[in-house]
Amino acid sequence: LPPVLLLVLVAQVLMLDNGLLRTPPMGWLAWERFRCNTNCKEDPKNCISERLFLEMADRLAQDGWRDLGYIYLNMDDCWIGGRDASGRLVPDPKRFPHGIAFLADYAHSLGLKLGIYGDMGNLTCMGYPGTTLDKVVLDAQTFADWKVDMLKLDGCFSTPEERAEGYPKMAAALNATGRPIAYSCSWPAYEGGLPPRVNYSLLAEICNLWRNYDDIQDSWGSVLSILDWFVEHQNILQPVAGPGHWNDPDMLLIGNFGLSLDQAQAQMALWTVLAAPLFMSTDLRTITPQNMDILQNPLIIRINQDRLGIQGRRIRKEKSHIEVFVKPLSNEASAIVFFSRRTDMPYRYHTSLARLNFSKSLTYEAQDVYTGDVISGLRVDTFFTVVINPSGVVMWYLYPIKNLEISQP
Ligand SMILES: *[C@@H]1O[C@H](CO)[C@@H](O)[C@H](O)[C@H]1NC(C)=O
Ligand SMILES: *[C@@H]1O[C@H](CO)[C@@H](O)[C@H](O)[C@H]1NC(C)=O
Ligand SMILES: *[C@@H]1O[C@H](CO)[C@@H](O)[C@H](O)[C@H]1NC(C)=O
Ligand SMILES: *[C@@H]1O[C@H](CO)[C@@H](O)[C@H](O)[C@H]1NC(C)=O
Repeated sequence: LPPVLLLVLVAQVLMLDNGLLRTPPMGWLAWERFRCNTNCKEDPKNCISERLFLEMADRLAQDGWRDLGYIYLNMDDCWIGGRDASGRLVPDPKRFPHGIAFLADYAHSLGLKLGIYGDMGNLTCMGYPGTTLDKVVLDAQTFADWKVDMLKLDGCFSTPEERAEGYPKMAAALNATGRPIAYSCSWPAYEGGLPPRVNYSLLAEICNLWRNYDDIQDSWGSVLSILDWFVEHQNILQPVAGPGHWNDPDMLLIGNFGLSLDQAQAQMALWTVLAAPLFMSTDLRTITPQNMDILQNPLIIRINQDRLGIQGRRIRKEKSHIEVFVKPLSNEASAIVFFSRRTDMPYRYHTSLARLNFSKSLTYEAQDVYTGDVISGLRVDTFFTVVINPSGVVMWYLYPIKNLEISQP
């Protein structure tokens, strides 16, 4: 083969090639808020049942979410009723009386996509039937027959050897169905999330996103523990993310019980610069306008969905407990998150773009993502001050202004 052709062949096997999730997925995922509540008798509005998913689909379509990009309506554990005589998975007949194909059709009729959940192993984490190695092909075909659009494959009740065989096998089985199905792999979270046990090159070839670390819980402490782990290992994790293959620090808690408003803004900003999937897990029927404003901020969504798909990094960690994160964006723009880990009062942080590793002799403008304020005339050596609340953020969208320097020959 001529060398050019060879390169093309090599490049083809380097990345998962289902064409999906060129930007981080956005949508709603049941788990964090609704867990394995199967008590439909006493709690019919909130139990894992088709009613919950139909009502969330309506909210996604009617309350502006879908039009901003939140198109995935994703189920999690506790939907399975068993396997039928031919071994095919069936949903719980009481809680999903119309079946999963009906839910998928309903989602599609509203311009949404349906995600489903399975487990590579004997049982799901909550003890429902799992997808053992001999069931991988059958379950992939079942999900495709139902017209499902995404699969989250968990990893409870399996050995490392079974996972090493099963996760790639499911990727191949999904591909063989001919239906584009985005593939979310919990595999690395079960192997400690780091090389040598985790091979991120391989993951990028078989999965569209993967959970690296612990499940998120409804508390600020949980957000911090996840953030700390992602930052501690950013040299490993940052380079492996990109269009079609994303690190997943888990769901957004915004709208639930554990975060203050500043902490909610902080999680949204930090997840956005990490190029994380934006999966809400909250009750969209009762969410407050303030929390909705955070999740529906058009500029922050544009930053998360930037076509370059570069995961941001923490570039400063100050003795003052201020940290600065930067995510490079298309058109020489950047997102900057100034994050305070302080617990006293709003902190006046003085810095310059030069101190944040910007070096080009351009004039920049910044838009504060949450207030809309515009800061003009920033050059790399201009000192400025941002005032950051305790456990809060200031987030900037920073872009160069066309100036004479650029247009001069
Ligand atoms: C299956 O994989 C091939 C080769 O990587 C790719 O071209 C095709 O789009 C994939 N199909 C689906 C449905 O994912
Ligand atoms: C899965 O089930 C088989 C058969 O019952 C059992 O031998 C095996 O130990 C189980 N594996 C795990 C990881 O629980
Ligand atoms: C990781 O996976 C890639 C792609 O499959 C493979 O080429 C490479 O040898 C693996 N690396 C290790 C250390 O096993
Ligand atoms: C910032 O720039 C300095 C000097 O060029 C360099 O040593 C440092 O590694 C850079 N930091 C980051 C986080 O890129």
